[in-house]
Amino acid sequence: MSKTILAIESSCDETACAIIKDDVLLCNVISSQVDVHAKYGGVMPEIASRLHAENIIPVIDEALNKANIKLEEVDAFAVTRGPGLIGALHVGLQAAKSLSLIYNKPLIPVHHLAGHIYANTFIKPFIFPLLAIVVSGGNSEFVLMKEDLDFQIIGQTKDDAIGECFDKVARVLGLPYPGGVHIDNHAKNGKHTYHLPHPMASSNYDLSYSGLKSNIINLVNHAKQKNEEINIDDLARSFQDTACNMIIEKVKHILRDFDVKQIVLAGGVSANSYLRSEMEKLAKDYKKDIILPPLWATTDNAAMIAKVACLLYDRKVFANLDIGSDPNWQIEDYLKFE
Ligand code: KG4
Repeated sequence: MSKTILAIESSCDETACAIIKDDVLLCNVISSQVDVHAKYGGVMPEIASRLHAENIIPVIDEALNKANIKLEEVDAFAVTRGPGLIGALHVGLQAAKSLSLIYNKPLIPVHHLAGHIYANTFIKPFIFPLLAIVVSGGNSEFVLMKEDLDFQIIGQTKDDAIGECFDKVARVLGLPYPGGVHIDNHAKNGKHTYHLPHPMASSNYDLSYSGLKSNIINLVNHAKQKNEEINIDDLARSFQDTACNMIIEKVKHILRDFDVKQIVLAGGVSANSYLRSEMEKLAKDYKKDIILPPLWATTDNAAMIAKVACLLYDRKVFANLDIGSDPNWQIEDYLKFE
């Protein structure tokens, strides 16, 4: 079905708009607030909402110009409905609703993590059943997909997300926010010399990162009290290995228990160089197909929202204009808009 979809993303600290026409990405505009939030060591929700409100119209305008598309030509307006920061989500949703009302075109609400998973389809098509490993600042989940838009969470973190753990460890080491990429860079020069806890005992597919995080914070604070030096490269390497190996061990477990044809990585932490290379090795060992998201799609963007919206448009999954955003929207409930 021929279609032009304009998608908006504003769930956290990126204001983004993308336009897809007949499955071709015409533009992918992102205005990042990361430098502003870096001064505070994390995302400040109130500031994020205010900056989205300032940026959303210029970002949409720039996307239309880059794509050389007029609003009258758009067949549907898609938007991230959740999960994310409530105030931030509202800005994108109100913009999409307004456009939908004015141009009398359908409104398509998209789940943010479904977007991250479907960013992989910019590389190649999915092969079902697949295992999506969603690793971000707010989530760490194993999602089984038997077909398009069918998400079943088979395991998840019981406490902190892996990305939050990377960020907190980076902070205690005095590295800038967001810390994941800095840990990744330091780890490249380090050796695995620190012995860290590896809470893997449970037989299910769940994860836990708070113990590892607290252990490192204590380790660094004790060293400071005793005036002992921390080797940042070695600690970054030891931490990164430990945090990522927890995922890798669980994936091996899942691959033994489920008939999965393809593995896909999704979310901000899927930019991690160690996780990417280890996951590729694992897929080869277990003879599974794998997709690693392009690095541009590991951070928030609206192109991935447009990708999901294309599928929802074909299925006529549209929302009413009284829909609200849902900061805690579960991926398994993504078709329920009430
Ligand atoms: O949560 P997320 O997908 O972004 C939003 O939805 O906004 O991704 C951000 C997270 C942060 O915790 C960041 O530190 C982490 O992804 N991250 C990384 C790397 N690059 C980003 N973690 C580990 N290694 C990286 N190279």
